[in-house]
This record gives sequence, structure tokens and C-alpha cells, in this order.
Amino acid sequence: MRIKVTIVAGDGIGPEVTQEAVHILESVAQLNGHKFQFIEMPIGGVAIRQHGSPLPAATLDAALDSDAVLLGAVGGNEFNSLPPDKRPEAGLLQLRQALGGFANLRPSIAYSALSDNSPLRPEVTAGADILFVRELLGGLYFGEPRSWDRKTGVALNTMRYTRDEVVRVARVAFELAQKRRKKVTSVDKANVLEVSQLWRATVVEVAAQYPDITLEHQYVDACAMHLMNTPRNFDVVLTENLFGDILSDEAAVITGSLGMLPSATIGGKVNLYEPVHGSAPDIAGTGKANPLGAILTAAMMLRHTAELEQDAQAIESAVQRVLSRGYRTADLARTNQPNQQIVTTREMGRLVFEVLNEIIDRRQAMHAV
Ligand code: IPM
Ligand code: MN
Repeated sequence: MRIKVTIVAGDGIGPEVTQEAVHILESVAQLNGHKFQFIEMPIGGVAIRQHGSPLPAATLDAALDSDAVLLGAVGGNEFNSLPPDKRPEAGLLQLRQALGGFANLRPSIAYSALSDNSPLRPEVTAGADILFVRELLGGLYFGEPRSWDRKTGVALNTMRYTRDEVVRVARVAFELAQKRRKKVTSVDKANVLEVSQLWRATVVEVAAQYPDITLEHQYVDACAMHLMNTPRNFDVVLTENLFGDILSDEAAVITGSLGMLPSATIGGKVNLYEPVHGSAPDIAGTGKANPLGAILTAAMMLRHTAELEQDAQAIESAVQRVLSRGYRTADLARTNQPNQQIVTTREMGRLVFEVLNEIIDRRQAMHAV
């Protein structure tokens, strides 16, 4: 199988974590006889500096012409005073829109090796395994009109959803729940917002086609609390764009570090894969970045684009094994942990690579018997 991947590593720690993810993909390819073709293109702040645009036409063309896009991170302090449409983030939002993926999958898992990394007690987080399905192309991020009138001192964004936009993302959530613990929690603010009332009514309608799934509704404020109190009660969380943005960062607390979280955006012309964390310019180039979010994102690419489920799982097991052996990047380091070994971005990538090779070798030896 030949898979063409556009790499848009972007800013800050983006390039260093993406590089580790690419190494992992290459080793999977080598061991299994698949071929990845990687094309590197600029996006975000680097693209603004080199080409005057956060999403140059050549980057967009390459992305549209590939089987998958792997993104690192965008954003940097020097752009903080620019209006939204001139910032590095605008490049990512334009890319998301052009690729068309509307369902952003963000798993948040309490790994037992990291149970002490969460400020939540281990008995609260143990076994938590949540999959956020964040609607990615609607709501406040893209709704028109939008403006900031400096003269009148009035700014405006529009939360807008159509029934069809809710139907399509709800279907993805219900279908994923069928392969998991068969529960969907739909999150909205239907006690205040008409958009949320449309959301809730539509989700209820879609749910009728999935009688095997238990559907519950939560208001977003309550959900923010329940996620921390009883994370194990969640299976699939279905929500709109901004709520999903906020809740998925909050859910990083369950895992122990934002650096651990991967994501996949599906449903459009080309799937987009990006870790949930940002560009962390303060630690860029210091070897402190955690590449596991990007590596787990590569696993999601194998699952959702390449249909290599076994290899996706092999990467996920390799990550867990490396963590249970005590290896930690700086974000995961804890005081009073004698068994931990602090490693750099590069070393962490290398460790996962080695364990992954062991896992795949063993699998192949088993098949040969
Ligand atoms: C995320 C990020 C982005 C978002 C930014 C960088 C535009 O926070 O992927 O969660 O808000 O969607
Ligand atoms: Mn975010």
C-alpha cells in the first residue's frame, strides 16, 4: 500500500514532535512493506515569514492531493497582536475547512503508568477512556457575521449550526460508540442557546437510528465538572466546536499532560491528523517537548486512513510500555519519583521506536510459526 502524507509541521515544538511521529510511521512501513510518501510543506508562522501567508497555495494543493495530512502545531508569540485572520491559527482553520473533515476525534485515556501525573486521585481516573467527537467546521469558529468595530467598541461572532451539520457529526459519534461501550453524551447549552436546542433535537432524532446506544445530554458547564468528578462515566462525548475545544483540553487532566493527546479529523476529502497540544514556543528546541501526542496521532492515522488497525494498536502498546518502564519527558516529570527516567523528545521517540520494533517482530515471528 502506498500512502501519501503531507507533513505540515508548523511552529514551535511542531517540527520536533512531528519528526518523531514520522520516524515511527517509517518503521511501520518498513516492517510491513507499506510505503509512505512524505511531502513537507509550510503552515502557520513559518509560512507567514517565508511566504506572507499562514496557508500558502502550494501547501493547500499538496494537502488536497494527499491521502492524509499530519500537522504539528501552529502559533507563536510574535503574532499575538495580529487580528484572527492574519495569525498562524488562520492557516490551520483554513486547512481544516478546505480538507472538509467535520468530526474531530480526541481520545483521552487514563494510562495506568501515568496515574500519579494527574492531580485527580488515581481511584477517580483509573480506567477512564473517553473519546471526544468535536464538531470542527461550524459554530463560533466559522459562523458569519464576525467583526470587531473599534470605533463603536462592539465585536461579534456567530454561533451557527444547520441540522445537516449536526446530523453528520452525530452519526460519526454513534457509529464510534457502537465499537466502544455504546454510550454517547451529547454536550450543549440548551437551557440558554437556540443553537443548542437545534443540536439536542437533532441528536435525539439521529439516536433513533441507533437503538443499541444509550444517549444522555449534559449542559456544558455541568459536563466540565462531571469530567473531573466521574471521568469513567463517559464513553463518547459529542459536542460542538468551541465546547469541544475547551473540554478536550480539560480532559488532558485525566491523562496527566496535554502532551499526550492525539487527534484525528475525519469525514472530509482528506483526513487531518494533529496532536491536541499547541506550539509551546517557550520550550521549542530544548528537547523538553513530549512527542507522544504526535506519535499517538500517527497511530490514529494508521487506524483511520491506512486501515492498519494492528499497527495502530502496536504503537499504542509501545507508548504504554515505554511509560511503564519509567521513561518521562519533562512535562511528565514528577518530584519524588525515584523510578522515573527523564528523556528528551528524541530519546522518547527512539524508545517507542525500539519497543514498537520488538512488538512487530514478535507478531511476525508468531505468524511465521
Ligand atoms: C486545537 C487548537 C486550535 C483550535 C487553534 C490552534 C486554532 O486550540 O486544535 O484545539 O482552537 O481548534
Ligand atoms: Mn484547543
